[in-house]
Amino acid sequence: MTVLTPVLSRLWDQPGSWTREVYERFDGYQGLRAALQKQPGDIVQIVKDSELRGRGGAGFPTGNKWGFIPQGGDKPVYLVVNADESEPGTCKDIPLMMANPHELIEGVIIASYAIRASRAFIYVRGEVVHVLRRLQSAVAEARDAGYLGTDILGSGYDLEVVVHAGAGAYICGEETALLDSLEGRRGQPRLRPPFPAIAGLYASPTVINNVESIASVPSIVRNGAEWFRSMGTDNDDPRKRSKGMTLYSLSGHVTRPGQYEAPMGVTLRELLDLSGGVREGHELKFWTPGGSSTPLLTAEHLDVPLSYEGIASVGSMLGTKALQIFDETTCVVRAVLRWTEFYAHESCGKCTPCREGTFWLVQILRRLEQGQGTDEDLEKLLDISDNILGRSFCALGDGATSPITSSLQYFRDEYVAHFAHGGCPFDPVASTLFAPVGSGSGGARTR
Ligand SMILES: Cc1cc2nc3c(=O)[nH]c(=O)nc-3n(C[C@H](O)[C@H](O)[C@H](O)COP(=O)(O)O)c2cc1C
Ligand code: SF4
Repeated sequence: MTVLTPVLSRLWDQPGSWTREVYERFDGYQGLRAALQKQPGDIVQIVKDSELRGRGGAGFPTGNKWGFIPQGGDKPVYLVVNADESEPGTCKDIPLMMANPHELIEGVIIASYAIRASRAFIYVRGEVVHVLRRLQSAVAEARDAGYLGTDILGSGYDLEVVVHAGAGAYICGEETALLDSLEGRRGQPRLRPPFPAIAGLYASPTVINNVESIASVPSIVRNGAEWFRSMGTDNDDPRKRSKGMTLYSLSGHVTRPGQYEAPMGVTLRELLDLSGGVREGHELKFWTPGGSSTPLLTAEHLDVPLSYEGIASVGSMLGTKALQIFDETTCVVRAVLRWTEFYAHESCGKCTPCREGTFWLVQILRRLEQGQGTDEDLEKLLDISDNILGRSFCALGDGATSPITSSLQYFRDEYVAHFAHGGCPFDPVASTLFAPVGSGSGGARTR
């Protein structure tokens, strides 16, 4: 039986887990106290040694990112926390900030100290007003205790934290669009180079990290890089570089959906064991390993390690570890249509392949879902996807193609059946009409 490793989530069941008082009772702000005894460069090295990789989707090594910040220049340095969390299925940062905002704030202070920033921003999606309020009161509590403001804990180090509300656009989670939005402009991605480490917020050196990445830092500083590295995939194999614990978010047709904090490299089968399996009487049909932008997988992938390398080896991406579970009652064409409508709606319009391509993908998928498509439409879907993937200005366009190409890879028969039947042939009550290609059955029963 897999063992959970609650570190970020260790206090979530405590009454008042979001208060400074509870956080301090369980080692809260001890990482900051330890960090302030060290040189900023030493903290960067600890995070590099831990092999923490960014939890926002791309998995870039966090310590290396901090190390890119030029020091000693005449411009200020900024830390920006990406708390936009708008990817369909992704739902870990909001619970983390609600249940224990101080873990994030302590991480913000340590990270800012490490890169020598005296101002940090937490960019939160605007709809989650309850999270904004919780963060704002946690910042006030931290300030009252001398963890923020001037001369933090008598160290001579000063830091101000601004909690900023976005206006609820998926594209504002893309780091450079986020910077434009934070500066007060319409959120659209910027051309790179220059990268944010050189010219980010207000054209100054800027680190942008995901909420979970930053919230992982206090425990790393408290317990050491080796402790963090001891969790995760094979330590002796340099090709397996997915270290530490992380939040896996299970949603959809699962008995007990929620956040499961486990070591990197756990499998979906193990997580389903912990969460009561696919809902009673049903079978796994398909799932996303890391939100809707990551190619779908099927029951044949239940034992693939949920690590960066493991998921890449089967042609998908770990992304945000948002495991959306769909049982045999789900029409894959309909699910893909809904996701594609989302991408078309959220496309910022800056580049042609994504702006035009997502529009046409929706038109074709709508036709197909209503049973009016043809074989030629399936080729057209692939052709348009090919014109978006790798040719768009940012990764939103690439992500929009993932559900389409992967569903055609595993469920082409289900698309064909739609136009063969002149409508959705899928009878969710009767049984599984369509099996994933190559699986031989409607999918493995997981409980
Ligand atoms: C369309 C789009 C939306 C994104 N949304 C988020 C988000 O909500 N939160 C996040 O941390 N990263 C998001 N990212 C990834 C960020 O651009 C960036 O890689 C990340 O914030 C870096 O943090 P990390 O290194 O700690 O993972 C998004 C990327 C794209 C292309
Ligand atoms: S890929 Fe889409 S979201 Fe990204 S810049 Fe182009 S139009 Fe905007």
